[in-house]
Amino acid sequence: MRVCVLRGDGIGPEVVESALEVLKKVCQIFNFDLELVEGIIGGQSIDKFGEPITEETLKLCKSSNAVLLGAVGGPKWDDLPTDRRPEKGLLRIRKELNLFANLRPVKVFEGLISSSPLKEEVVRGTDLVVVRELSSGIYYGEPRGIFTKNGIKYGINTMYYSEEEIRRVVRVAFKLAQRRRKKLTSVDKANVLEVSKLWRDVVNSERENFKDVEVEHLYVDNCSMQLIRRPSSFDVIVTGNIFGDILSDEAGVISGSLGMLPSASVGERYALYEPVHGSAPDIAGKGIANPIGTILSVALMMEYSFGFEPAKKLIEDAVDETLKEGYRTPDIYSRGDKEVGTKEMTQKILQKVEKLING
Ligand code: IPM
Ligand code: MN
Repeated sequence: MRVCVLRGDGIGPEVVESALEVLKKVCQIFNFDLELVEGIIGGQSIDKFGEPITEETLKLCKSSNAVLLGAVGGPKWDDLPTDRRPEKGLLRIRKELNLFANLRPVKVFEGLISSSPLKEEVVRGTDLVVVRELSSGIYYGEPRGIFTKNGIKYGINTMYYSEEEIRRVVRVAFKLAQRRRKKLTSVDKANVLEVSKLWRDVVNSERENFKDVEVEHLYVDNCSMQLIRRPSSFDVIVTGNIFGDILSDEAGVISGSLGMLPSASVGERYALYEPVHGSAPDIAGKGIANPIGTILSVALMMEYSFGFEPAKKLIEDAVDETLKEGYRTPDIYSRGDKEVGTKEMTQKILQKVEKLING
């Protein structure tokens, strides 16, 4: 298995380093072949090559079975025009590798329940996955741009989906729901947008193929409210690119720390794994970033790219045990916990992996 490593900007390199230690350990335990190649993306790439991603890096990604990414962006590059910003590197990878389904699981860890901004009784038991369409929609639709007509400036973006683009991501979500609690919430704005009307029609036509899955349709504004009111009632949520971007941040905060959340972006051929959090430039280089989001992204890699669920479970259990013992990075620390930095947290998790295997 060949994994392309893109450390990126801010805390990206630190959290990727931690996740790589876990990846190597698990591959060693289960006798998986692992070859690592390194590419450059984001601000790093802008500084070195003048563009957020190079053909070279894209080629490396395409020659690998999976990509592990840290984070991109930072204040240094904030004033660049949209198509030259670090984020553009990420958007290009998603498009070029055809990563059309972005899976963002949100699970409330019992030990961290008090760091959720919501009441304990509301969040307890929350275990959901946002499936976000990632390679089309308003992020990529044409026409787009800023233009001037009769001396007045206009900005334009286009929300655009083909039936096929909707169908393929909806199928991923249905299949996932079948392996979970068999409940699918499709989110749109079908009371206003035609593109959402088509979305809803496609979901309804696919229902025929997944009769064991219960389907609910919610408008995006209502869904954002229900997520706060009854997060534990959701199982799989499927939605378009921009609604999914917004809802997954909202869902993410429910768990108590964005730093804990992993994601997988999958297509027919390639897959990319990255934490949900960003590059957090304010704490970069301080050794205090929470590595768990990236470590759990490696767990998802074990499931989807290596196709080996026991390895995923091993990593998740090791993280669980470490949290149960009270170890916390500052973002999830509260009084009485044992405060640790990135490296120490990683060592604790590695020790747990070891212990779970050897007893
Ligand atoms: C995300 C991020 C990206 C997005 C940005 C960095 C382009 O917010 O992965 O959710 O909007 O997709
Ligand atoms: Mn986002």
